[in-house]
Amino acid sequence: MEAISIGLLGLGTVGTGVVKIIENHQDKIMHQVGCPVKVKKVLVKNVNKERDISITKEMLTTNAEDILNDPDIDVVIEVMGGVEETKDYLTKALQNKKHVVTANKDLMAIHGAKLLQQASQNGCDLFYEASVAGGIPILRGLVDGLASDRINKLMGIVNGTTNFILTKMSKQQRTYNEVLKEAQELGFAESDPTSDVEGLDAARKMTILATLGFSMNISLEDVKVQGISKVTEEDIRYGSQLGYTMKLIGVAQRDNEKVEVSVQPTFLIDSHPLAAVNDEFNAVYVFGEAVGETMFYGPGAGSMPTATAVVSDLVNVLKNMRLGVNGKSAVAPQYKKKLKEANE
Ligand code: HSE
Repeated sequence: MEAISIGLLGLGTVGTGVVKIIENHQDKIMHQVGCPVKVKKVLVKNVNKERDISITKEMLTTNAEDILNDPDIDVVIEVMGGVEETKDYLTKALQNKKHVVTANKDLMAIHGAKLLQQASQNGCDLFYEASVAGGIPILRGLVDGLASDRINKLMGIVNGTTNFILTKMSKQQRTYNEVLKEAQELGFAESDPTSDVEGLDAARKMTILATLGFSMNISLEDVKVQGISKVTEEDIRYGSQLGYTMKLIGVAQRDNEKVEVSVQPTFLIDSHPLAAVNDEFNAVYVFGEAVGETMFYGPGAGSMPTATAVVSDLVNVLKNMRLGVNGKSAVAPQYKKKLKEANE
């Protein structure tokens, strides 16, 4: 039985997890897709770096073309991050009829609409479950699980780093800088953690959630953003004395066709379910007209949770290949209109 070959762009925290899951869960994956799956080539910055995973030096390359132009590679997994160069790589992968799985919220929040259109034109899948809330299957939950409902509000904690910082500042009275350093060491934070602490990472995720949830073309500039860098230990302590917990909360709300999306530090009453979401965990409330209130909860950052979402997307691509139905992506919005038009 011939194996399906994968090209991996990036071998950092998430990429390493992807390699481990493909290897450790090979039986389960094979059972679902009907053939073995192997990582053939991996794009890295440094081929000589010591790595504690089953990737040989021959599998590594510093030239993306070795993956994008390899006719044996059916699926490209992008876990390298970045926006413009990465967009060019994925555009080329799609033009070369390779399916794409990405964990890149920056890219999807900015260029998602264009890339999804290119995927569909080329008969390819483009899945991006890992771009929002790490291991929580929130995108498929919204698009498939709640396909029949009209979603009016999304509210949640969608950044693991800031939730980790706020939790440790509140429960262990530790300093902001000390906890941020730990979040970086644990692989939760972005390479430039400014996007975490200033709320931009959460804003990108809220853009993706609102776009899918409301089927509307929402852009990052439409999101009102405030991060946690100005939150002090005193703020947290005073709140706590009054029975409130500080969280970085994203809200996307629709009132008829008007939509507002925001991210800001918010005091929640201690009995609120989101107040109990601690450390790097994320949770998203979805308010549907028919279903009422549902809450999705789980690990929002880190190697294995995020890699689980990536490899699950891969399995879905391969199932679609087996059925011959690629390019009809379930996780793509049917845009109704742009937010600006709707709010006018
Ligand atoms: N930096 C992100 C976070 C990683 O902390 O949530 C997962 O998207």
